[in-house]
Amino acid sequence: MSSPAIVTIDQQLSDLVGTLNEEEWKRGYWEQGEFYAREHLMPPSIIDAFMEDVEIVRPKINRNFIPGHKKGGSVSFYLLQRHAPSILALYHHEGWINFLSQLAGVPLLLCPESDPHSCALYFYTEAGDHIGWHYDTSYYKGDRFTVLVGLRDQSTSKLMCRLHTKEPGKSEEERALTTKPGAYVFFNGDKLYHAVTPCGPQEERIVLTLQYVTNPAMGLAHRWFSNMKDAVGYFGWSALFGKPSR
Ligand SMILES: [Fe+2]
Repeated sequence: MSSPAIVTIDQQLSDLVGTLNEEEWKRGYWEQGEFYAREHLMPPSIIDAFMEDVEIVRPKINRNFIPGHKKGGSVSFYLLQRHAPSILALYHHEGWINFLSQLAGVPLLLCPESDPHSCALYFYTEAGDHIGWHYDTSYYKGDRFTVLVGLRDQSTSKLMCRLHTKEPGKSEEERALTTKPGAYVFFNGDKLYHAVTPCGPQEERIVLTLQYVTNPAMGLAHRWFSNMKDAVGYFGWSALFGKPSR
């Protein structure tokens, strides 16, 4: 049975989803090439609950560094599943998933529980932490969609987004977004080219990411490549075996 705190988070999320103008969001999402962002979406009461979860898992951050591409810290789904009930309540929230499915125009599903990215935290807490330009490529048989929620941002770091890169006849557009607490970004991973600019000294930026898919099946070769990328680039080798790093 859910704790009273989780019931409250569930209710707050339901209330929030009930206030959103689906038609306006849908129009914005498709006009921008399957990308939509809001500077303020989640209220402080929800973000505070997520930050309580963050502080519990913070000692378990896995730091990673790929020269020329990325540097930062991550906490995988496996740890969040055990220690972050409020964050999991968002990831699993039925009204939330239905709303995102309406935007995407296709039913969205949770990633398999074996995927450490399903729901994860990214920490940019040291000078130079960043990630280079990339797509959130889907290794699944279906499309993969990313949600980002800003949790803390005391940094000069920006989320850089390049829209319409795969739409012939459309001019590319570049956006530089700050992800302050409560900020929301949603996009089709294979459509949005994006990066995070380096943090300065004494800065901190923490972002929650949720992944949804249209078909959670994955071929063996893609599974192998995806596992290697996660182990090296994000969550460490223990993530390969579905175990927390500590
Ligand atoms: Fe990404």
